[in-house]
Amino acid sequence: MTWLQCAWYMAGWADEVGQAGLSRRITDKLIFFYRLADGKVAAILDRCPHRFAPLSKGTRDGDNVVCGYHGLTFSPEGRCVHNPFGERIPAGADIPIFDVAEKDGIVWLWGGVAGTSDPALLPDFSFIPNTPYSRSVRGYTLLHANYEYGTDNLLDLSHIEFVHKGTFAGQGVIFAGDHSVKTDGDTLHSNWWMPDIAPPSVAQAMFPPEAKVDHWLDMRWNAPATMRLNIGVTPHGADRQAGFEVPQAHILTPADEHSSHYFWSSTRFHDLENPEADAMLLTLFGDAFDVEDKPMIEAAYNNVKGKDFWKEKPVSLGIDQGGTRARRVLERLIAQENNAEA
Ligand code: FES
Ligand SMILES: [Fe+2]
Repeated sequence: MTWLQCAWYMAGWADEVGQAGLSRRITDKLIFFYRLADGKVAAILDRCPHRFAPLSKGTRDGDNVVCGYHGLTFSPEGRCVHNPFGERIPAGADIPIFDVAEKDGIVWLWGGVAGTSDPALLPDFSFIPNTPYSRSVRGYTLLHANYEYGTDNLLDLSHIEFVHKGTFAGQGVIFAGDHSVKTDGDTLHSNWWMPDIAPPSVAQAMFPPEAKVDHWLDMRWNAPATMRLNIGVTPHGADRQAGFEVPQAHILTPADEHSSHYFWSSTRFHDLENPEADAMLLTLFGDAFDVEDKPMIEAAYNNVKGKDFWKEKPVSLGIDQGGTRARRVLERLIAQENNAEA
């Protein structure tokens, strides 16, 4: 098993799951998410047990889903409740269901057995929903690479100087910084601290070009691949509070072994009612993640697709310590889960 089962996986942004529902492959299972009359989200296996039609291609009868092929009907609890060809419900006609939680504008799927989820384990992304003081832009892309290669990319932000030449690259400032990786239980922190530098591109509108600033990139990682990045800039020597911070979400969910859903967001605390700022940020991040990161990660993954990462003997540069530690934590958690099952 190359993924954790007992973990929360981001299934989508809450507004992706409307009345019509959303069908998404997660950990190699096609799952249908849809809204119940009370507004809660149900998640069922998107596969009819009769001839395997996707139930997402069916219709709705109240909270029940009617298969579009021959009309078997299923409740959100996974029970087959109607057979149009007789009174009897055939044996084996129930379908798997999944625990779902909705928090911070995100629909989360519990990868373990239904009824065993723990909402206390949901990572905090409370900065994402808009407030009177904040605005977020959000995006999604399908990455044709294993999700751990996406994590490697995000936990090693030194690639900014090379991959993001058209967007975030900062005239080498990352090389002026200190990189540290700390663990706090199963949470990892991979942080860059760059003191006494010229304002990086994210801060150029807020500081005169000759100013000296302190700049930080603090990345928090939780298994399986759930990350928050705080991008901060403050006048050199001042408290962090005297400057500003941009919190971002970078969350990867394995679709299958070789492809991953990549969800991202970025929150600002100024220029709130400016649709042009939204459009500019969406273009900037779209260029950075879709045009710059994605082709590089996919091409690199293509070179080792289907092979064991460690057996390919990846060279260590130190900057990749965050990604390496995340891989090790995940291996340990998956091994623990497999041992508990054995
Ligand atoms: S495939 Fe669903 S009822 Fe036949
Ligand atoms: Fe990147």
